[in-house]
Amino acid sequence: MRRRGKHLASERKKRIPQKSGKQQPLSGLRVIVTGKGGVGKTTFTALLAGELRERGLSVLAIDADPQEDLSYSLGFSQSEITPVTKNRAYLEEKVGGRGIINLNPDLSDIVTRCGTRRADGIGLLVMGTVDSAGGGCLCPENTIIRSIARQVRVKDGEAILMDTPAGLEHFGRGLGRGFSHLIAVSEPTAQALRTACRTAELAGELGIQNRFLAINKIRNEEDFQISREILGDTDLFAEVFHLPYDEGLTRQKELTALAAGEKRPLTEAIAGIATLLLKK
Ligand SMILES: Nc1ncnc2c1ncn2[C@@H]1O[C@H](COP(=O)(O)OP(=O)(O)O)[C@@H](O)[C@H]1O
Ligand SMILES: [Mg+2]
Repeated sequence: MRRRGKHLASERKKRIPQKSGKQQPLSGLRVIVTGKGGVGKTTFTALLAGELRERGLSVLAIDADPQEDLSYSLGFSQSEITPVTKNRAYLEEKVGGRGIINLNPDLSDIVTRCGTRRADGIGLLVMGTVDSAGGGCLCPENTIIRSIARQVRVKDGEAILMDTPAGLEHFGRGLGRGFSHLIAVSEPTAQALRTACRTAELAGELGIQNRFLAINKIRNEEDFQISREILGDTDLFAEVFHLPYDEGLTRQKELTALAAGEKRPLTEAIAGIATLLLKK
């Protein structure tokens, strides 16, 4: 029997943050995808990238997960990619090496210098591994990560989608700064929903006002009901989406092809999220 978990709404109510942070809001669609490990963040990010591209947007996918799975799901070959943290010359030039560190580097060229862009309109920037010295670390890697979403330019018709490592630690590093939207991905379990809610709280503290929840791998009505029960009457999310379990997913190598190909319940559900994201 599955544990249904505690009702979360009352725990959260007093802590829902709405402050807007010190930074000016940035224009453009900037989406950060968060959640517990294994819930489907990378799968979702790749499918959403494909869906947005289908609608004519140019998409920059940023892989901030040291596991670097997103490139596979998007169909990039490893030889095309140099993670930012391996580009020592760039890090040194922008942030400095030992001694004086520039805490506010100009990263406007990071995509052209460190990223890869495909003819189909999907670009990829892979962050790579960052030394785990915590949020206070002033190393070049952390400085870049803190600045990235605020510094990458987004024009009309462009979107940034960032896939993140599992859990919450990256919020302590400031990775969430500068995003317009959070999509917390979850499974219909208490633990995964708890993590999703916590990421939404932290996103609120960073001033991300548009927070969506995507409950993934829904197999049946019971999964649906369990999620509703666990979530209660939360107001952490502007919208809650339910994404069906897709048996065929494990056989797919390049997920953007799935998004562009035959319509399936999962891709239809992700199309619904894309529609909402594109609504001004
Ligand atoms: N809607 C879904 N239906 C079936 N399997 C899914 C679904 N979404 C993700 N998966 C599978 O779940 C596993 C974990 O997905 P992944 O995207 O790597 O998670 P995360 O990035 O959150 O760690 C993968 O095997 C993926 O194919
Ligand atoms: Mg992943």
